[in-house]
Amino acid sequence: MTNGSIAVVSAAPEQFGTIALATLRDLLGGFDEPVVGLPTGRTPVALYEAMARRQYTFPPGARLFAIDEYCSPTRREGTNAAFFDRFLPRASCHAAVALPRADAADPHAEVRRFCAAIADVGGFDVAVVGIGDNGHVAFNEPGSAIDSGCRVIELTASTRAQVDATWTPPPETGMTVGMAQIMAADQVLLLASGPAKSEILSAALTGPVTDHVPASFLQLHPHLTVVADALALSGVSL
Ligand code: PGA
Repeated sequence: MTNGSIAVVSAAPEQFGTIALATLRDLLGGFDEPVVGLPTGRTPVALYEAMARRQYTFPPGARLFAIDEYCSPTRREGTNAAFFDRFLPRASCHAAVALPRADAADPHAEVRRFCAAIADVGGFDVAVVGIGDNGHVAFNEPGSAIDSGCRVIELTASTRAQVDATWTPPPETGMTVGMAQIMAADQVLLLASGPAKSEILSAALTGPVTDHVPASFLQLHPHLTVVADALALSGVSL
């Protein structure tokens, strides 16, 4: 199914991870030593589990970057670094996922350093992203501009509510790649699953392009692929 330049791949819920992986492989196939942005959260777990099941390894020379991280001076458990250690251990994917350090003394300098590392390798070839309950992409919260850059950002109540429930109080700020870095990717792969995402996915794909729903900016991306399960797609009429 395509809507303008949006290719939508619909998956049965139990096939979501497998189909997300097949789609990612196809997208990566167009690049030598691809530079890849990778998400965390509940949604991509199925993708990473499919990678583990199939013993998938990224193409040789792939450079992997997280798209965001919490600012967390003291706690490592629950950070995106801990997430990738668990779901994408280096031994199985053949490349380490680079992240800004959650405990950096100066998160502003840290996110600048991190973004410079992405820019040094030419920016993302493929940016894999999820969609937050409030329409955020990475930690580009509502109100983020389409040309916003990498930065430290205050997390909304909605995003803080998505954090591991044992993390109390949840972190107040995060470091994120900007909408600019995501929009500059050659290919964007948006993943969404579950009925809770149906309304926001519909707003993102078919609603007005607005900074109230940063994921709606992706409608303007020339090469957007959406892999969503039937539950998340239930509200979307393309
Ligand atoms: P989730 O988060 O997969 O945990 O719903 C998505 C996101 O915030 O990008």
